[in-house]
Amino acid sequence: MTIGVTVLGSTGSIGRATLEVLRRHRDRFHVVALTGATNAELLAEQARAWRPAYVGLAQGGNTDCLVEAATRPDVRIVVNGIVGAAGLEATLAALRAGKRVALANKETLVMAGDVVTRAAREGGGELVPVDSEHSAVLQCLGGRPPDHVARLILTASGGPFRTWTPERVARATVAEALNHPTWRMGRKITVDSATLVNKALEVIEAHFLFGVRYDQVDVVVHPQSMIHAIVEFVDGSTLAQVSAPTMELPILYALTHPERRPDAAAPRLDLVAAGALTFEPIDFALFPAYGLGRAAGEAGGTAPAIFNAANEIAVERFLEGALPFGRIAPVIGAALARHVAAPADTLSAVLAADAEGRRLALEAACS
Ligand SMILES: NC(=O)c1ccc[n+]([C@@H]2O[C@H](COP(=O)([O-])OP(=O)(O)OC[C@H]3O[C@@H](n4cnc5c(N)ncnc54)[C@H](OP(=O)(O)O)[C@@H]3O)[C@@H](O)[C@H]2O)c1
Repeated sequence: MTIGVTVLGSTGSIGRATLEVLRRHRDRFHVVALTGATNAELLAEQARAWRPAYVGLAQGGNTDCLVEAATRPDVRIVVNGIVGAAGLEATLAALRAGKRVALANKETLVMAGDVVTRAAREGGGELVPVDSEHSAVLQCLGGRPPDHVARLILTASGGPFRTWTPERVARATVAEALNHPTWRMGRKITVDSATLVNKALEVIEAHFLFGVRYDQVDVVVHPQSMIHAIVEFVDGSTLAQVSAPTMELPILYALTHPERRPDAAAPRLDLVAAGALTFEPIDFALFPAYGLGRAAGEAGGTAPAIFNAANEIAVERFLEGALPFGRIAPVIGAALARHVAAPADTLSAVLAADAEGRRLALEAACS
């Protein structure tokens, strides 16, 4: 019997890569449900190709179809490839229903880390990362206990502005921000990679996924995107996960973990062709939003939800041409400065913080 999979956000970059992986592994998995939001045409095409039992179009804030798709009894794995806070309810529902959630939708874990991890514990669900860095950590850990781990080192490509001056970055256009050097992804995460907000989100994600303190999560800039993460163990030994920059590998691993499946189509590592692998520290002056995100993580409670919500608004405004790139970090900073952090241990507290973060960011963006 093959394993039933729901793909939330099947019309997006992660969703399309997931369907490609599932196509190659049809002998092991079948698609039960697909969801999209605005791209009804592609969703219909996918539905014709896959003939799933359920298809949902989440329009106008309607999340019922996401929850329905994520909790069907014939589904064992839910790949959450939705962008932003909109993926939260479906993640919670799937975990409470005891499903494995292959999570690309990192915003969910950042805004509601305690609520999401508790839903997994209580419902018997399982969170498996799709993010390449966290998949790398999971692979390096190999099931070893937390007290063997000294430190996690996540890598960052540095995005398109790594070698620019802060003055030039502040005036970057939408086209320049969307021109990522190593990854082809959706628009929001591509902008997040240019501000390095994405890396701050990933630091918070690592804290919740692996139960490590923030001072145990370091980030190093590695422009070639070949090493995805390194785990340092308590005896000083380090293990790294190295592979070509493709999301198909971490998606497949999230589906099969802790097993591995042969995948002849996966690109093989050619170290000679890869050339020099280089590393450099993060320039905090060039990427101020990264520091804001780390600080929000360390502050805890509702601060990460504010950080995430304010960033979603700032990026939306930037992509609409209504906010200069250089204003993204100040807008996030203003929202965080005006928020009084509170516990984020209930869904209603998280949703209230999310709404407040959006309001504060809109006010800051318009001032
Ligand atoms: N792309 C990558 O390589 C990559 C790598 C690591 C992590 N991630 C994470 O994966 C997530 C998805 O990224 P992406 O690059 O795949 O984004 P994307 O290409 O923009 O796709 C987003 C998907 O979410 C759907 N969606 C958007 N708003 C929605 C809403 N309100 N309710 C329900 N569905 C909604 C979209 O549907 P329509 O297209 O039909 O509107 C689309 O299917 C993000 O959290 C990102 O950080 C992505």
